[in-house]
Amino acid sequence: MNYNNLLVETTDGITTLTVNRPQVLNALNGDVVRELECALYELDLDVTVKAVVLTGAGDKAFVAGADIKEMSEISSFDALSFARRGQSLMKLINKMGKPVIAAVNGYALGGGLELALACDFIYASEKAKFGFPEVGLGVIPGFGGTQNLARLIGPNKANELVFSGRIISASKALSWGIVNEVFQADELLPKALETAREIASKGSLGVASAKDAIVNGMNMSKEDGFRYEAALFGVLFATGDQREGMGAFLEKRAAQFKGN
Ligand code: CAA
Repeated sequence: MNYNNLLVETTDGITTLTVNRPQVLNALNGDVVRELECALYELDLDVTVKAVVLTGAGDKAFVAGADIKEMSEISSFDALSFARRGQSLMKLINKMGKPVIAAVNGYALGGGLELALACDFIYASEKAKFGFPEVGLGVIPGFGGTQNLARLIGPNKANELVFSGRIISASKALSWGIVNEVFQADELLPKALETAREIASKGSLGVASAKDAIVNGMNMSKEDGFRYEAALFGVLFATGDQREGMGAFLEKRAAQFKGN
């Protein structure tokens, strides 16, 4: 499928998905949200795709938020529906049976930070900047940011970032646990792709189940999470990947996973 606002490039089972509106710092308007939803849905169904790296076009921004020009004109009811659509995009990333790595190359603000937070983890360039400027616009984050950030770094740091609207550096985001690792700008994508390839070399059913256990277990009691994990563990013993992975170990050879 062709997209007006996205670039989709797949090499050796790894897709780089780039939000491509650099003239407005890749701001998310309704069309971009819709296109991201379609693209991610297609990638989820494509068995040849093992991992996705999500980034922004240009050297200035990952995504500088929802499109303020478009939002400034909408009614209260349309804003509710826009927030719900943005949230369903974030939930789709959580539900995907493959990893999505955010490679944050510049500003990740508002809806852009929400998009990065919905990914499975974030790598950042030294030039990346993070924040929720929404209170300065008279609103709040609406694509799940208050919920995902508070769950990731705890309410106190989330309160400080959201209430102040402050923009923080990549190193501060690293120390707060928002990003996993910070790289020089030209190393960001190669490092994200390297990790994506490492994940893609494993059993894809195992990776999908691990994501399922972590994402869904976070919303359960520990007891229920343990039960859910055990059920997924058991199911994996009905797969070819389990036989191949353990067989290859015992035969002292590299596993050739087929995702079945
Ligand atoms: N929406 C629409 N357009 C945007 C935009 C956004 N979120 N962010 C940047 N742009 C546009 C600018 O209007 C500008 O366009 P023009 O050239 O036509 O004027 C272009 O991108 C370049 O931006 P700047 O000239 O402002 O670049 P800068 O380097 O001076 O500043 C910035 C960079 C600090 C990121 C600044 O652009 C900025 O503050 N952007 C808005 C960030 C923001 O408030 N994001 C939150 C949006 S609300 C939201 O996301 C709600 C939600 O949770 C769903």
